[in-house]
Amino acid sequence: MTLLKLQHIMSNEIAKRSFFSRPPEPPAGVLLSDPFQSIFIGTTKIFRVPFTWSYLNLTNPHISVVGITGAGKSFFVKTLLIRASYVWNTNAIIVDWAGEYKSWVKQTGGTVVSLAKGDYLNILDLSGMKPIDRTKQIINSLDILTDISQYPEQKRITEEAIEQAYTNSGFELPERPPEGKEPPTLKDVIALLQEKLQEGTYEYPSELENAIYRLRQFAREGEDYFARKSTIDLGKIAQSGLVDIDLSSLPDERFRGLAALFILQTLKEKMRSEGWSETKGLKAIVVLDEAWKVASDEKSDAIMIVREGRKYQFGLIVASQNPTDINEAIFSNVGTSFILRIKFEKFMNYLQGSLNFSNYIRSEISKFGVGQAAVGMAFQTALRFPDTFLLEKIHGEEPLYVYTLDMSDSLTQSELSANLIQRDYQFEKDELKNKFIEYNMSSEGIDAMFAEMDAQGRNIKMLEFLKQLKGNGITIANVVGFLKSLSIEDQLITRIISSSGIENG
Ligand SMILES: Nc1ncnc2c1ncn2[C@@H]1O[C@H](COP(=O)(O)OP(=O)(O)OP(=O)(O)O)[C@@H](O)[C@H]1O
Ligand SMILES: [Mg+2]
Repeated sequence: MTLLKLQHIMSNEIAKRSFFSRPPEPPAGVLLSDPFQSIFIGTTKIFRVPFTWSYLNLTNPHISVVGITGAGKSFFVKTLLIRASYVWNTNAIIVDWAGEYKSWVKQTGGTVVSLAKGDYLNILDLSGMKPIDRTKQIINSLDILTDISQYPEQKRITEEAIEQAYTNSGFELPERPPEGKEPPTLKDVIALLQEKLQEGTYEYPSELENAIYRLRQFAREGEDYFARKSTIDLGKIAQSGLVDIDLSSLPDERFRGLAALFILQTLKEKMRSEGWSETKGLKAIVVLDEAWKVASDEKSDAIMIVREGRKYQFGLIVASQNPTDINEAIFSNVGTSFILRIKFEKFMNYLQGSLNFSNYIRSEISKFGVGQAAVGMAFQTALRFPDTFLLEKIHGEEPLYVYTLDMSDSLTQSELSANLIQRDYQFEKDELKNKFIEYNMSSEGIDAMFAEMDAQGRNIKMLEFLKQLKGNGITIANVVGFLKSLSIEDQLITRIISSSGIENG
């Protein structure tokens, strides 16, 4: 015999019983935070509640973002950075693996630092850190990016040589460095190892040779991006508004990895000294987009930062197309995860295992269009509602269309290598359109110009561009005026015009 028991209960009691009807979204009171302390992201899919993100009630301000190419990860990141700067005056540092954010940052008035294109970072820079600690960090980076951990003797002599280089430059290993004192570089470290080799007294010369070879990869003439005096002060970068550190011109993934690890280490130390306080707001956001081993290796500072949660006054955003490139510890520790469209079952399994969302959410994620997302949040207090919900769409800033005018066909080889003349110019679509209107180009002509440039990936060579202008009826005087408006010198203008052949048309 079955027993049915009836009870009198109040309707608010029913609502609390999640086994009756599991609400598909967190209550509005949780989704909507104080507008002066939160960022609008979009509207929820089921109840159409505006969702505003704030780190205040979450376990920490760190965020993971995953989704296939074109799903809208970078668009979301840009939106978040812009709004965080409005709300909390948050600075942002983008560790820009593929150079994806560069033109947007320029457009927004931020600073672009291009490693391997004129900017250098000395990985022995201390930024206030004790030499002994920096030495450990450098070894840790080598551990992640090279095979040094398999060769304990090489690791030991490398570490010793780094410490020796600091001592030789007048630093005390266990003490904070005096202001303004010039640190050694990787070249000094290599020189010490070479000296030792030449002395001929060291027992295992082949170990020495291999240690030298490993370091030399990062110090070769022409590829010594991390082995020269720094051109940027990383210690100040977390207070410099929006900064893009473009790594795309570095020769390979190890160089990019070294840069990213070094940047993270320095920021972490900087922020550690400042500590966390609820009222100060979010001082900085650091973005790692497609950062390969930096997001996956257990020894990386990215993982330590996320694990240590609210200890720092900055948030880390880790984004990737491939969720398995993001260490499980990141997913299980970040305060918020944004899951955009995911296709592969393998990735979905990994995400569902790490974030623990329902099969309903799983099937929705696989059907997402651009900008749609599932959001998972880790609240400070245990709550009785699902912590993963769906957003109708990430409601972002309108995308900017940036057009690049490439000067490489207008400069000589020696001008290109001397790097004294600007190689490209970037314009936002409206800005360029206004110029065309000013030069009396017809609206058909303007459309044709943009169609042509769009077909070339919004990137057009100067001479080709001038031919197009001429073809659309722009006068030589206006072409000259345009080039002058780019502050190109008269002599060069004359040469460009004559090489384009537009005078004789
Ligand atoms: N929420 C959105 N609303 C409107 N447009 C969007 C949205 N999200 C993305 N887009 C547009 O879709 C395109 C692709 O987005 P985005 O570059 O952010 O993709 P991604 O996930 O970063 O891809 P990748 O992995 O290749 O870098 C862009 O043109 C962007 O402007
Ligand atoms: Mg992207």
